[in-house]
Amino acid sequence: MKKNNREIRKEDFTGKLEFQNISFQYSGSSYPALRNVTFKLKPGRKIAVVGMNGSGKTTLVKLLCRMYDSDAGKILLNGVDIREYDYKSYMKLFSVVFQDFKLLAFSVGENVAGPGKIL
Ligand SMILES: Nc1ncnc2c1ncn2[C@@H]1O[C@H](COP(=O)(O)OP(=O)(O)OP(=O)(O)O)[C@@H](O)[C@H]1O
Ligand SMILES: [Mg+2]
Repeated sequence: MKKNNREIRKEDFTGKLEFQNISFQYSGSSYPALRNVTFKLKPGRKIAVVGMNGSGKTTLVKLLCRMYDSDAGKILLNGVDIREYDYKSYMKLFSVVFQDFKLLAFSVGENVAGPGKIL
C-alpha cells in the first residue's frame, strides 16, 4: 500500500514532470484513451500537446490533476509518484481551464483560481 500523505507546496515544485508508460481507458469505453504515453518535461520548459480530436490531450491533463487514476504506468512530479502526495496539497499546484469551461459572474482571477486568495 502506497503512502499518500506526502505534502507538496508550490515552492517545492521544481517543474520536473515525467509520464512513464501511462495507459488509461474510461469505464464503459471499448478502447484506451491513452496507451503507453511516456515523456519528460524539464523544469522551466513549456510544452504544447498537439493532436487530433479525441487523441487524449484532455485525458492526459485529467490524469495529471488526479481526476482519474491511470490503469498502468506512473506520473512522477519532482521524481515522486503523484499518488503519494497528499491530495489537497497536490491540488493546490494546479489551475486548469478545460475547453468546456463555464464563465461565472466573478473576476477572471476568481474564475480561474476559485474563491480563495488570489496572488
Ligand atoms: N468521460 C469519458 N467517457 C468515455 N470516453 C471518453 C470520456 N472522455 C473522453 N473520452 C474518450 O477518450 C478519448 C480521448 O478524449 P480526449 O477528450 O482526452 O481527447 P482530446 O485530444 O482532448 O480531444 P479534443 O481535441 O476534441 O479536445 C476519445 O476517444 C474520447 O471519446
Ligand atoms: Mg480536449
